[in-house]
Amino acid sequence: MDTVLQILAEKKINACPNQRIIPIEYDEKAYYIKRKISNGRNALIKQNTAASFWCEAYKIMMVNQYFPLAPHIIFMSDDYFIMDAAGKTLQHIAKEPEYTFIRNNAFAKAGEALALLHSTGLHHGRPALHDIAYKRETNTITLLDWENERHFFSVDMKALDIFLFIHSCFREEWSTTQLIDIAVTAYLSVKGSAEQIMNVKQFVRHHAILFQLCRELASFGWINVTAVNWTRNYIEKI
Ligand SMILES: Nc1ncnc2c1ncn2[C@@H]1O[C@H](COP(=O)(O)OP(=O)(O)O)[C@@H](O)[C@H]1O
Ligand SMILES: [Mg+2]
Repeated sequence: MDTVLQILAEKKINACPNQRIIPIEYDEKAYYIKRKISNGRNALIKQNTAASFWCEAYKIMMVNQYFPLAPHIIFMSDDYFIMDAAGKTLQHIAKEPEYTFIRNNAFAKAGEALALLHSTGLHHGRPALHDIAYKRETNTITLLDWENERHFFSVDMKALDIFLFIHSCFREEWSTTQLIDIAVTAYLSVKGSAEQIMNVKQFVRHHAILFQLCRELASFGWINVTAVNWTRNYIEKI
């Protein structure tokens, strides 16, 4: 680690005392600083800020032992870590015209990345489109934000990853399911991944009451709930 980068990072942190994620450039390379301060989200699920921070760092290192699917951390301190910038999020790529011609490839790579992660027995926690980055120059996917641990349901966490990924796509209200189809096909192309798809189908079947409730609530037009219904219908047809 270059001490000049460390000094620069600390200057940036002092200049933005309340910002948790800070982009930074050094020597013509882009990085992100992630700090040990609350995001207001972990308060809700009663996870302590320090525990979330260390849990994230631990998971990132664990995942990268198998496949380089989590951010590459170049410096770790007690209060923040610095990672390489991993490109643009899929949410951005799905929308921005400059990505029109590489969009399908990015979603295929994302489906494959999630299946590779699951093949190691690990899971992400909430692989939403804004937490999946694609870097054009290297044609690589990086799963960001490893803090989310949820144990609301008795469900295989890998199956929940798949459900939440598809849900995050439906929230975007695209006119077709093309990008979802591409990601799911790529997911299924990885050996052993069919079992995870069976698990997510089973999850949908076993939580019929919950999904029934969402169907009723959808009439209020809340996109998160409506997207749950779309996700359930989609998963039933895979
Ligand atoms: N290494 C990275 N490369 C590219 N973008 C990143 C990186 N880390 C964070 N980001 C961007 O910052 C956003 C917030 O980071 P994230 O780790 O998800 O923190 P939060 O817990 O606040 O959601 C991401 O959704 C992404 O847009
Ligand atoms: Mg995030």
